[in-house]
Amino acid sequence: MRRIIVFAVIALMLVPVVVSANGAPDAKGGKIVIGANIYSFADNFMNGVMKPELERYAAEKGAAIIIVDSEGQQAKLNDQVDVFIAKEVDVLAINLVDPASAASVIEKASAAGIPLILFNKEATEAGIMGTYDKVWYVGTNSAESGIIQGEMMVADWKEHPEWDKNKDGVVQYVLLKGEPGHPDAEARTVESVKAFRDAEIPVEQLALEADPNWSTQHGNDKMQAWLTASFGDRIELVICNNDGMAFGAINALKAAGVWLPLYGVDALDQALTHIEDGEMNGTVLNDGVGQSRATVDLAVNAALGKDVTDGTNWIIEDNVSKAVRVPYVAVTPENYQDFR
Ligand code: GAL
Ligand code: CA
Repeated sequence: MRRIIVFAVIALMLVPVVVSANGAPDAKGGKIVIGANIYSFADNFMNGVMKPELERYAAEKGAAIIIVDSEGQQAKLNDQVDVFIAKEVDVLAINLVDPASAASVIEKASAAGIPLILFNKEATEAGIMGTYDKVWYVGTNSAESGIIQGEMMVADWKEHPEWDKNKDGVVQYVLLKGEPGHPDAEARTVESVKAFRDAEIPVEQLALEADPNWSTQHGNDKMQAWLTASFGDRIELVICNNDGMAFGAINALKAAGVWLPLYGVDALDQALTHIEDGEMNGTVLNDGVGQSRATVDLAVNAALGKDVTDGTNWIIEDNVSKAVRVPYVAVTPENYQDFR
């Protein structure tokens, strides 16, 4: 009997949640409209993983989402935010182009009183999240991806003494960095290599190149140039801060008939195929699906004036970062099948 009463009470409590989840009406009784952008539709991960899930999951929650391409230009994004505000969207979901330029977007949202969810590129300016009570961040713990990638590389290096081609006990590596100043690019660059130092394996950086677009083209061009550089024969390891650049590096290696241990981040489908084919030794799942869902969950709650994590399992880290951080996962030749 008690159990029946408990179930009945829970069922009653669930009713309004279910209604709002299916209908997600805004304050005016219409659909909630999320004004969103992607910093560049040319980015494999953002366009291939995050954008489709933002659209799919928003539709599942009964919200409308408009996603525009900022084409890698912060000035363009600022104009897009003005247009969204003029159109009276209920909430903004913004992927900064320049992580150091959050202030202008936050000021615009704050002046209009519209809640703002920043996602994927964490604002770098100290204290900026405290300047508006209705701004939150959805992303990852940037350092975690580098730590996981580093641990994989160290374990494999120890297992493969033949990878130390010149037998000097030092890892001669090249690194494809991604966007300079981007918290993910910066943290991955430091943490992946630090894993070797922590394991007391000395490293020597032969080359490092940044690319604001994290692109396959860049990975291809740089790897091609490195292979023919004076140090080309000495390269023992290729560290890529994302899979997109890794794919380009793999092309260049194959074209040159060279095989080198190579690691990425994101766990795109194509990376799983490269792991299967032995062309990539590991990647790190950047859970874009989870981040997209968290972005939409927080946006819808914020638009409804609810606590942003209401009815979800997301956790706000603290009231300084105001961040939901979705965990990274190691993807190796042993477990890659689980990520298809
Ligand atoms: C990173 C991702 C990169 C790139 C970047 C864009 O999290 O690993 O591939 O998409 O975001 O900001
Ligand atoms: Ca060596």
